[in-house]
Amino acid sequence: MKVKKAVIPAAGLGTRMLPTSKATPKEMINIVDKPAIQYLVEEVVASGIEDILIITSRGKSTIEDHFDRSPELEQKLVRARREKELNEMVKISHMANIHFVRQQEILGLGHAVYHAKSFVGDEPFAVLYGDDVIFGGNVPACLELCREYENYGLGVVGIKTVTPQDLTRYSSVKILPIGNKVFQITDMIEKPPKGQEFSNYAILGRCVLPPNIFDMLEITQPGAGGEIQLTDAMKNLAKTDTMIGVDFSGKRYDTGNKLGVIQANVEIALKHPEIGGDFREYLIELAKHL
Ligand code: UTP
Repeated sequence: MKVKKAVIPAAGLGTRMLPTSKATPKEMINIVDKPAIQYLVEEVVASGIEDILIITSRGKSTIEDHFDRSPELEQKLVRARREKELNEMVKISHMANIHFVRQQEILGLGHAVYHAKSFVGDEPFAVLYGDDVIFGGNVPACLELCREYENYGLGVVGIKTVTPQDLTRYSSVKILPIGNKVFQITDMIEKPPKGQEFSNYAILGRCVLPPNIFDMLEITQPGAGGEIQLTDAMKNLAKTDTMIGVDFSGKRYDTGNKLGVIQANVEIALKHPEIGGDFREYLIELAKHL
């Protein structure tokens, strides 16, 4: 079945990005000239999906404003004949059918995704974790996962190898290779204590799920960090139906932490048509004195 819907949970408190995230949603943090969440919406659209649900919470209304029209700004750009910027601004609000729902209590990623139940209905859907930006790759990461969902008819997670130290912060998966960069997954664990990891592959930022994940979320108890974890519901799915893991081709940046934001900015800036050249020269000069 074709994947036609996507969900972006963006309601978390973002404590790793304090103090910025105190009043600015971390999903609105700037990467060169766009907020992180715009890259996610662009990835979804490039994957052929037009219906998107963004899960927000109190203090995150700038996310809605960003994808809305801005008549005063547009009029000013019209008067100034700044057509390129005008088209760019209007395009942001027409990129996709974007819906919003608020998570009233911040009880975890699994709890956030449960808010998509009526939007999703009886269809498979993609989930893009709001602070994981993926660039490059042969095709958009979301599309890579959707294709495997369509191939196997099973839930799919995006995976990559990470350092043993990072593994304790993510979810480790039990894998069996079944194709080029494609794996069968039969178990997983969220934030594994040292020695309890299944492999050095971690789930990073993307999954495509069948609608029966909501039955599993309904019975998922608070897990690591006292939060209702999406991984715990997916673990149930992996054990009953098995899942698929895709080592996606793009590079992933964790824009929920300070170093990840800087790395994403540096690498995107180097490729940026407007500032890339000057920035490269600046970096080369700076590096001489490091
Ligand atoms: P994270 O665990 O990275 O987000 O969740 P967090 O809890 O905001 O971050 P820290 O650890 O305090 O810094 C991954 C994604 O899931 C969303 C977050 O907004 C983020 O985009 N999320 C998390 C929710 O929507 N609701 C939640 O209850 C938790």
